[in-house]
Amino acid sequence: MIVIQRQDSAGLFEPFRLGDISLKHRVVMAPMTRLRAGKDDGVPSEWAEEYYSSRATDGGLILSEANLTIKRWQSLALPRSSIKECTEGSKNAIGAGFDGVEIHAANGYLLDQFIQSVSNLRTDSYGGSIDNRIRFPIGILKSVTSVIPPPKVGLRISPFGTYQGMREPIGEASGPIKTFSRLHKKLYEEILDFGYIHALEPRSTGDDDQPDDKLGLKNSVGPLRQIVLKHGSQFNVAGGYTPASAKVHGEKYNELIAFGRSFTSNPDLVERIKKDLPLTKYDRLTFYTQDKAGYLGWPTYQKQDIASSAAEAKIDVEASVVKIAA
Ligand SMILES: Cc1cc2nc3c(=O)[nH]c(=O)nc-3n(C[C@H](O)[C@H](O)[C@H](O)COP(=O)(O)O)c2cc1C
Repeated sequence: MIVIQRQDSAGLFEPFRLGDISLKHRVVMAPMTRLRAGKDDGVPSEWAEEYYSSRATDGGLILSEANLTIKRWQSLALPRSSIKECTEGSKNAIGAGFDGVEIHAANGYLLDQFIQSVSNLRTDSYGGSIDNRIRFPIGILKSVTSVIPPPKVGLRISPFGTYQGMREPIGEASGPIKTFSRLHKKLYEEILDFGYIHALEPRSTGDDDQPDDKLGLKNSVGPLRQIVLKHGSQFNVAGGYTPASAKVHGEKYNELIAFGRSFTSNPDLVERIKKDLPLTKYDRLTFYTQDKAGYLGWPTYQKQDIASSAAEAKIDVEASVVKIAA
């Protein structure tokens, strides 16, 4: 049995070394598609700068949303040309000043569709056995890490997600842990110093909580964590964390914890978690709308607090005026 050692530095607000990046805390903004880039050209809108910079913190990590390359991959017949595109895209991202690249193999998007038998029905060398199904993602990761340093590269996975019809049935050559364990082993066999795995917890799927009938109480990313740690790499998590549960997790595991929905409505989420301040509930109706409303304009706790005490003061004044008038 492999015993996971708690490192002394565990705790959400302790520094963390991710590959070659030094972070000052462990609350990460999860990658979220918000559809605010230009519909035709995919160019980020001027709002994106305000959206991301108001969520940036000293020494914090933001995983920005995926770019359009992913949509274009889907129309390409051959994995080989996709590998080339992805490698170019990653190189360009680093050239443009990004600190690293997270390859998206989660939530039923293209790489996940290749990995899982539930969606991969190919009969060529990219389908069938687990080794065949992971050939494409491993090819991408090998190619990307040949042009940018492996510690700068991560992989996002959602072995238990059911979003977009995913979740492997358990069989002789399938099942979430069986398939993803093989993927991880192969990955670490092929790539030295690979950056990290970013795994979605089974209680989460896509942009929502897993429905109860799909939850499966025994489902856990634990076995994958063990493989990653055994190879001296980094395992990070996301999905359904609250400030309280993240703090408990942070005490137990030396990991980054990514938040999605709460970051949409709390630009100062990191500060709120640190100071145990209440969170503003997100608004699902504006997750993917294409204008400013619901994207910008969410107040920080301090501003909200000042606004609400001003409103309370006004009510008090009005109440005394009413009293005097009466
Ligand atoms: C508006 C929105 C868009 C998202 N877009 C993506 C996406 O494009 N790709 C992805 O893998 N996950 C996406 N997610 C999932 C988040 O990255 C995260 O895993 C999920 O929200 C669970 O975290 P939470 O429980 O803290 O919200 C999205 C989530 C939200 C709320």
